[in-house]
Amino acid sequence: MADNIHPIFDRLLQRSDREQRLQQRSKVLWLTGLSGSGKSTIAQGLERQLYNEGFFAQVLDGDNIRSGINNNLGFGLDDRRENIRRIAEIAKLYLHSGVITLNSFISPTREIRDFARTIVGPEDFIEIYVNAPLEVCEQRDVKGLYQKARRGEIKGFTGIDSPYEAPEQPALEIRTDQLSLEESVARIYAYLQPIIRR
Ligand code: ADX
Repeated sequence: MADNIHPIFDRLLQRSDREQRLQQRSKVLWLTGLSGSGKSTIAQGLERQLYNEGFFAQVLDGDNIRSGINNNLGFGLDDRRENIRRIAEIAKLYLHSGVITLNSFISPTREIRDFARTIVGPEDFIEIYVNAPLEVCEQRDVKGLYQKARRGEIKGFTGIDSPYEAPEQPALEIRTDQLSLEESVARIYAYLQPIIRR
């Protein structure tokens, strides 16, 4: 063999190699629901539980995405779609590195969520509907944004003057007006655990 030709000693590393190293199967968990429905709180609780049980997971939410890579995007439907497109691409990178992501975004329309599902690949995309009635989210008003939206100080707020379309066939629906945070996390964990364990 010529000196300048190097044989390929090994094949490229695969997703399955990384999953093997992490001792899990990676998935993209997609939490959709109104602002204030409890998505991010549940995602954080789930992230902690997965960590405690030896899984390797990462929350993606407004705190680390809309303040960083997507800080040039607003809340018109086109920008929301672009927000979700980039997030789905990021989640796909994590997926192929073996990491489970817990994605917490309103992702308000079926079309936007179907777009995310297509980018990720339907076999790896798990849609969870975090459902609390609008009245309950508005009553909670954790960030004071519903009040601003009602006063007209924010235009195009989801559920007020911008659409939210409930998922038709989510893998799970979590009624956060009926379940505690602990129960909500436990339900999702019980569903997820058999899928991600090796
Ligand atoms: S999405 O529609 O593009 O998926 P995303 O989940 O990233 O939305 O951001 C939603 C968060 O942004 C809300 O929880 C709220 O804190 C804030 N927000 C600011 N303006 C709006 C708006 N017009 N509609 C909904 N949420 C808004």
